[in-house]
Amino acid sequence: MIVNVAGLGRVSSSIIYNLKDKVEIGYILSRNKEKAKNFVKEIGKGIPVDYTDDFKFEDILFVGYSDSVLLKAPELLEKFIGKNVSAIHFSGYFSSKIFPSDWNPSSIHPNCPIPRKETKLKNVIFGIEGNIELAKNVVTLLEGRYFIIPENSKSFYHLAAVLMSNFPHALVFLAERLYEIGKIEKKNFYEVMESLLINTVKNIKKNGTVESITGPIARKDIEIVRSEREIFCRNFPEFCQLYEIFVQIISSMNEEK
Ligand SMILES: NC(=O)c1ccc[n+]([C@@H]2O[C@H](COP(=O)([O-])OP(=O)(O)OC[C@H]3O[C@@H](n4cnc5c(N)ncnc54)[C@H](OP(=O)(O)O)[C@@H]3O)[C@@H](O)[C@H]2O)c1
Repeated sequence: MIVNVAGLGRVSSSIIYNLKDKVEIGYILSRNKEKAKNFVKEIGKGIPVDYTDDFKFEDILFVGYSDSVLLKAPELLEKFIGKNVSAIHFSGYFSSKIFPSDWNPSSIHPNCPIPRKETKLKNVIFGIEGNIELAKNVVTLLEGRYFIIPENSKSFYHLAAVLMSNFPHALVFLAERLYEIGKIEKKNFYEVMESLLINTVKNIKKNGTVESITGPIARKDIEIVRSEREIFCRNFPEFCQLYEIFVQIISSMNEEK
């Protein structure tokens, strides 16, 4: 298997880094040739190229573009596509169908943050679709796990990931501010956060989302809910509505019980 890269970003470089001893490396295409040269030097394999060079990709092509650039990939890469290319992107939002069908496209989306090339991908769960056999082979080489996303469901899958990962992160940020306002020691914040989040995850896995909900809103402790709304809105006036919306969501969960 020969793997090539277009766009040397965090995910594409970590994928290559994780695969470097298992596959042959072809072209590493970057707008910045120095960056490609340094990467090739570091992994000891591959041919650094930029968009002014004359070459053709053959076999596997990882397209590492950020989502805002991915839709332009057919236009940016057309002249470099050889006769036998299978292109793979990493977006959780876009389907592999954004690539031309003669690129044998697939997508493998890692469900984890990848901040740098050294990030290990062992046991990471990938959502895969498109050319399934190839996607499975690549994830298996990475020692990751995978599941197949139904065709046309990519946007639901991605929004669900945003709700499960980024939104709780934002709520933890507000919780941290309350510890600061209340002058409660930071080390306690980290310990309580870890314990609360881990136990929430465990309870949901065991009993499902609706059955696991606890706290003053689920218990209908109206006075506490009212008084905490006041504290929330006083300290976060710009997000005051957020409190009300969560009360509504948790009340609707109560009705499902
Ligand atoms: N990072 C994560 O945690 C993570 C996790 C899961 C999925 N993903 C997905 O993985 C994909 C890549 O994300 P990333 O975080 O690796 O992005 P990134 O680090 O920002 O890298 C994107 C690369 O795209 C190339 N690029 C950017 N603008 C370009 C332009 N105008 N023309 C040509 N090339 C351009 C650049 O490569 P050169 O500088 O080499 O030209 C850049 O390094 C996205 O679809 C993202 O949603 C990311």
